[in-house]
Amino acid sequence: MIKFDTSHAHLQENIFDYQKAVTLAHTQLHEKSGAGNDFVGWVDWPKSYDHEEFERIKAAAKRLEGQCDVLLVCGIGGSYLGARAAIEMMRGLYCQNKPEVIFIGNTFSSTYFKQVEAYIQDKEIVLNVISKSGTTTETAMAFRMLKQLMEKKYSKEECQRRILATTDKARGTLKELADKEGYETFVIPDDIGGRYSVLTAVGLLPMALAGIDIDAVMKGFAQAYEDLKNPDLHDNPAYQYAVARRILENSGKDAEMLVTYEPQMAMIAEWWKQLFGESEGKEGKGILPCSATFSTDLHSLGQFIQEGKKMLYETLLLVEAPTLDGTFPSDAENLDNMNYLAGKSLDWVNKMACQGTLEAHEVTGDVPNLIITMPDMREETFGYMCYFFFKACAVSVYLLNVNPFNQPGVEVYKKNMFRLLGKN
Ligand code: PA5
Repeated sequence: MIKFDTSHAHLQENIFDYQKAVTLAHTQLHEKSGAGNDFVGWVDWPKSYDHEEFERIKAAAKRLEGQCDVLLVCGIGGSYLGARAAIEMMRGLYCQNKPEVIFIGNTFSSTYFKQVEAYIQDKEIVLNVISKSGTTTETAMAFRMLKQLMEKKYSKEECQRRILATTDKARGTLKELADKEGYETFVIPDDIGGRYSVLTAVGLLPMALAGIDIDAVMKGFAQAYEDLKNPDLHDNPAYQYAVARRILENSGKDAEMLVTYEPQMAMIAEWWKQLFGESEGKEGKGILPCSATFSTDLHSLGQFIQEGKKMLYETLLLVEAPTLDGTFPSDAENLDNMNYLAGKSLDWVNKMACQGTLEAHEVTGDVPNLIITMPDMREETFGYMCYFFFKACAVSVYLLNVNPFNQPGVEVYKKNMFRLLGKN
């Protein structure tokens, strides 16, 4: 379903020379014998996910269908990015269907919170709070304030219907609070870290509440599991991508820019950045993940990519069939001189921009381009793409001899912040 192409990357090593190392990484992953093996629950998740809970997710979405103008999804990092990436990619940025989805608990910005608070004042709302630890400050602060707002607006019973908590199955502040208040809870599995959790209740519940067909998402996820379980590099595009990244790094590329041509995929790039950045950036190692949306960013970053320091390569994440398309109209007067495009499809123009840019960057700019092509931006493809990137990331990071499943560095700022905030 997903195609991977290195023909525009001018790789200086042969991908297939990495077969032995890839087979070892694959075995470590599947046999749970590598670094961070407590957190590889996602590897078999397309098969082993909790089907009973999956039905509960769909039932909750059905029960609340049509009852909210705004769905508030309260979480940060791995408890936020996947759901947003999924909802924006599949529904688009200006979806007219209810509910509108607002993400909150992902910032300390007072202005952001107060604007959302004012915006939702007279709206019917449903709140899904998501936190594995239950103690993440951004999320906990927003949740307390939203909970109080909802308690003023709705009865206790109505709050119990409208507040859903996704957290640890047994422990933690949020689990205790939810049980005490009588909120329905959904589980973040112990052995799946935040950035690998989008197809657990963490992402599936917001998707279902937003009207997305999560059966189709899981179908694509399961298909990827089957397609990508062979360690043979000839048959595994995710592993080819994992190796190509290392080869480009060996040739002096320190940054990878994920490029999409669809604004509704900008959050996919944010999700991807967390996946690769948090998995790989340790021990002074790693490729810096960054992103751009073209052609928009060709009018800003395009200059640097074309002629700036030769430190990066691009990974194009392309979509074959757009969700919507249209035809550019003819104009009798042609005052804007745009008639040369009359009758062309809008997506064809986007594809020509992509082709022209690829040639400019690869040939004239000497910037290697890897190309990942997805058939569309629909549910099955989303599920498939998640597993493709999970496996590519884990194997690529194992090839670097780094544990892909911890994130010790993110605690440092928290320590300082807690000291300044006066937390014990
Ligand atoms: O990947 C991670 O582990 C982090 O990004 C976490 O998901 C993030 O810090 C949120 O943590 P929690 O779910 O405990 O609130």
